[in-house]
Amino acid sequence: VPSSLAYRFRSARRDPNLTVLEGFHALKHALRFGAEVVEAVTSDLEELRRLAGGLAEDLTGSLPELAEPVSFDVLAALTPHPPRTGVMALARRPTVDVRSMLDHPGPGPVVLLEDPRHMGNLGACVRVAAAADAAGVLTTGQNDPWHPDAVRGAAGLHFALPVARISELPASDRALVAVDPDGEPLLPAALPRRGIFAFGTERYGLSDELLARSDASVNIPMRAGVSSLNLATSVAAVLFCRQARG
Ligand SMILES: C[S@@+](CC[C@H](N)C(=O)[O-])C[C@H]1O[C@@H](n2cnc3c(N)ncnc32)[C@H](O)[C@@H]1O
Repeated sequence: VPSSLAYRFRSARRDPNLTVLEGFHALKHALRFGAEVVEAVTSDLEELRRLAGGLAEDLTGSLPELAEPVSFDVLAALTPHPPRTGVMALARRPTVDVRSMLDHPGPGPVVLLEDPRHMGNLGACVRVAAAADAAGVLTTGQNDPWHPDAVRGAAGLHFALPVARISELPASDRALVAVDPDGEPLLPAALPRRGIFAFGTERYGLSDELLARSDASVNIPMRAGVSSLNLATSVAAVLFCRQARG
C-alpha cells in the first residue's frame, strides 16, 4: 500500500538516507549539484515556473516538470514551517567518505563545527563553506547536520560539498587551527591553505580537548566590549580571509 504524501515527508525528517528540501532555492541548489530527488511538490506551479525561469535558467525545463501540484493545505501538512515559495522535495543523502575528504590533495580547507546547536546557523556555515569552495564540513555532537532546518539554512548547498557528522576528528596531515576569541590575532598570510578550521559551540566555544589538540589558535579581532561573533559569521570571516591571502 503506498504511504501518504504527509507520511513520506514527515518520516523522511528522521530518515538517515533521505533529506527534506524546503523552498525553491534548496531544491534548485540540490539539483544543480547532483541530488537524486525522489519526489517534489508545489502549491504554486506558476510561481515555480517563474522562479525557475528567472533564477535557474540551467534548470528551467526540468525543475517545474519534477513537481506534483498540490493545494497549500496539503503542502502545510508536510512540514512545521511551509516554505513561502510553496516548493518541497525529498532527496537521497549522498554517502560521505570522511577519510577521502580529509586526504583530498586540493587546496580547499575543512570546516569543523564542534557541537553546533542552532540548525539555521549550521546551515549558514555550510552555505558559506560551499561558496568559499571548502573541501567539506564536519560536525560533532548530537545534532544531525542534514536536519531539514539546516538544509533550509544552507539553501540546499549540502549537495555542493561533503557534509557529515563525526564522533571524533580522525588524524590527518592537515593543520588543525582553533578559531577562538582567546587565540592569537588572525594574520591571513599565516593561515594554512589545507587546514582544518575548528569553530566552537554557540554558547561555550571550543572544548579544552580540541584546543589542546590544535596546532594553532587564532582570533578575529573585535572592538572592545563585543564578546564574540555569531558562529556562521566567524566561519565566513576566516574562510574569506584565507582566500584573500591568494
Ligand atoms: C558565538 S561563539 C562562542 C562564544 C563563546 N562564549 C566563546 O568564548 O568562545 C561561537 C564560535 O564562533 C567563533 N568565534 C566567534 N567570535 C570569534 C572571534 N572574535 N574570534 C575567534 N573566533 C570567534 C569561535 O569558534 C566560537 O567558538
